[in-house]
Amino acid sequence: MGELDSFSQARLQLWAHREGKCGGFEALPQSPFRSASDDAQLLLELRDLQKRDQKWKAQSKTALRLESRPEIVRALPLVDSSQLKTWVTWLSSFNSRVHTASDPNVHVEQLRSKLVDLLAVAKLPATVDLIGHRATRQKSIRVRLPGSVRPDETVVLGAHLDSINQDWFGSGKAPGADDNASGSANLLEALRVLLQQGQPERSVELFWYAGEEGGLLGSAEIAAQYKAAKRKVVGVLQLDMTLYPGDGAFVLGSMTDFTSPWMRQYLSELNRLYLGAKIIEDQCGYGCSDHASWHRSGYAAIMPFEATFDRMNSNLHTPKDVIDSASHFEHSAMFSRLAVAIAMDLGNSTLTPP
Ligand code: BES
Ligand code: ZN
Repeated sequence: MGELDSFSQARLQLWAHREGKCGGFEALPQSPFRSASDDAQLLLELRDLQKRDQKWKAQSKTALRLESRPEIVRALPLVDSSQLKTWVTWLSSFNSRVHTASDPNVHVEQLRSKLVDLLAVAKLPATVDLIGHRATRQKSIRVRLPGSVRPDETVVLGAHLDSINQDWFGSGKAPGADDNASGSANLLEALRVLLQQGQPERSVELFWYAGEEGGLLGSAEIAAQYKAAKRKVVGVLQLDMTLYPGDGAFVLGSMTDFTSPWMRQYLSELNRLYLGAKIIEDQCGYGCSDHASWHRSGYAAIMPFEATFDRMNSNLHTPKDVIDSASHFEHSAMFSRLAVAIAMDLGNSTLTPP
């Protein structure tokens, strides 16, 4: 453990990426009252989580078996890859979505007002709110579809909305089309489809997180707050980079670190029933996105990804992360379909992680 000022932090991050690795650091939940014994407590809890995960893994592969739901089969074709392209085009047209920008909430406010319009014509109850943070001036956005039967149980679907440009002497442009306008657009498209469906029994919450690129800043605070409030989160989907099919179209990576084996088996069931993709398990090797925040707070998460780690889009964090001939919106649409399937299956089930 150590402390760095923001200048050294940026240098370390730049250097680590040049070496093809990430520094693997992030902000731990911050509080003036946080002590070494809090960190020790966190480690104990993580060890306990690991034990439960290992127990689950030891059970047979068929421990979790889902039945196909006709309403999901009907909803999935409504996901539209050209809508997805429209969202990614719009989000990547901002000069940047960097959390340290002089006004880091321009795109946040604009997205919020688009969400308000979308929810106004919905058939089911839904609310949108902005969440402020301590660690960054940027805000996160949350859309909540309250559950009709078990509203206190929540399914979380998330993506980071911010971008970054680590090319210091360049234009400062950070279009972040793949990282992570794509995952953000996946959630918008999933929401558009979910708003045409019936009200889920459990609550479904969609998050567009702030400051992920600065060290999972928004999600770390949100997950810690949910944990402190003893909120029941039954599963977490993280979408971060879904546009570049580095291992071929409809071949997805799925990260096994900072995720739950139960939730990964759940993903493989949904894939068998509804998606028909090829899924290759891989690792980031560090807490590479917001799923790590939820994992650390003890919640079951998955992080399906555009490809395996080594074959991901190498333009990330540069001004070249734009829509180009390699961008594959049908590949990306798989991730919106997955988000819809999770909301409609887990959102209407009594299944809970071990
Ligand atoms: N989209 C990346 C994460 C990523 C990169 C996932 C490669 C899978 C493969 C994410 O936005 C990011 O850049 N994360 C940071 C880590 C964070 C703790 C600052 C990174 O990888 O440097
Ligand atoms: Zn990134």
